[in-house]
Amino acid sequence: DIPNPPGPLANDSIKLVNDPAHPFIAPGPTDLRGPCPGLNTLANHGYLPRSGVARPDQLVTAVMEGYNLGNDFAKFLVYQAHLIDGNPLTNLISIGMKTPLTGPDPPQPASIGGLSLHGTFEGDTSMTRVDAFFGNPAIFNEQRFDEFSAFSTEFGVQGTYDINAAAELRHQRLQESIQTNPQLVFVSPRILSAYSEAVFPTVFFVDGREDNGQLTLSAARDFFDMNIMPVGFHRQPAAVSFPGIMPLVQTIFNKHPFTPGVNNGVNNFTLMPQTPDLFDFCGIYEDIVLRVLKIQYPNPTGQLKDALNKNLGFLFSAVEGQNCTQVFPFGTD
Ligand code: HEM
Ligand code: MG
Repeated sequence: DIPNPPGPLANDSIKLVNDPAHPFIAPGPTDLRGPCPGLNTLANHGYLPRSGVARPDQLVTAVMEGYNLGNDFAKFLVYQAHLIDGNPLTNLISIGMKTPLTGPDPPQPASIGGLSLHGTFEGDTSMTRVDAFFGNPAIFNEQRFDEFSAFSTEFGVQGTYDINAAAELRHQRLQESIQTNPQLVFVSPRILSAYSEAVFPTVFFVDGREDNGQLTLSAARDFFDMNIMPVGFHRQPAAVSFPGIMPLVQTIFNKHPFTPGVNNGVNNFTLMPQTPDLFDFCGIYEDIVLRVLKIQYPNPTGQLKDALNKNLGFLFSAVEGQNCTQVFPFGTD
């Protein structure tokens, strides 16, 4: 009774998505919001339940409908998140902090922490949030956004957040954390989400009628801070998946390459070359499944194991097209 993820949209053409059927309503006091401006905005427009608690299949539908994320990329993000931050027993995940609204938890060490939980999907060197060492990593930070704006003004075409601004800011955020955060962690799978999230705003936050890779600071303010779609906002003109995003990730990486690592004290970045690198896509998939997930679920049984295996199958369906081989942390029976 866990629903299958939806397939690709039947019609992925451009359309008005800030429409009368999806009005912005600011979250109420009990509505949960978290570190992802993309999902917070979808919840504020009713593409997701306004409570901030959703089923993974609802999340896949919402990011396809609202932004035209491709089906594979949507499933990759959503089932990765659900496996490490959601509740496999109730099939619910919080896009913000941990909440009883996701139902009774499976046994510890499973955390069911929601997207705001540090060290799972949420990680260091975010663009508009602080590292967890310095404060709440889920909430918008004005100083971080000032830096985002300054980099856009200095490096972006016509002062927009574009691929050039993304490359410089991504580099700067890592260097700054190396110099200031004694507990910095920058390894798989965070490296891939950090680079994807640097690219996303140049694609999905840009009105599909423009589709020029240039995010104005006004639209950036809307999405990152207010979590609102600009007036008249249209989604991308066609679904965008791995083939649309990974070359852009490669471009910003090439400007400032890095090796994954962790800080052992301030300004003491210890390289971890044995962990998968940014372009070892199947290695990152295996790392999520065999290392990250196993920490929370060392030896699941019964209904819990069945639910995990089902979601693992959905995750694999997202990476199959990248020629990855399926791995089975809990066996195949
Ligand atoms: C950041 C989850 C889709 C845009 C994040 C973070 C999480 C997350 C946990 C925090 C990571 C961090 O910065 O530490 C997800 C999930 C998605 C999804 C589960 C499911 C499909 C999207 C979409 C967009 C988007 C569709 C754009 C339309 C962003 C951006 C950030 C971010 C720009 C970086 C925020 C920053 O660095 O300040 N996402 N996200 N996300 N997400 Fe999402
Ligand atoms: Mg973060």
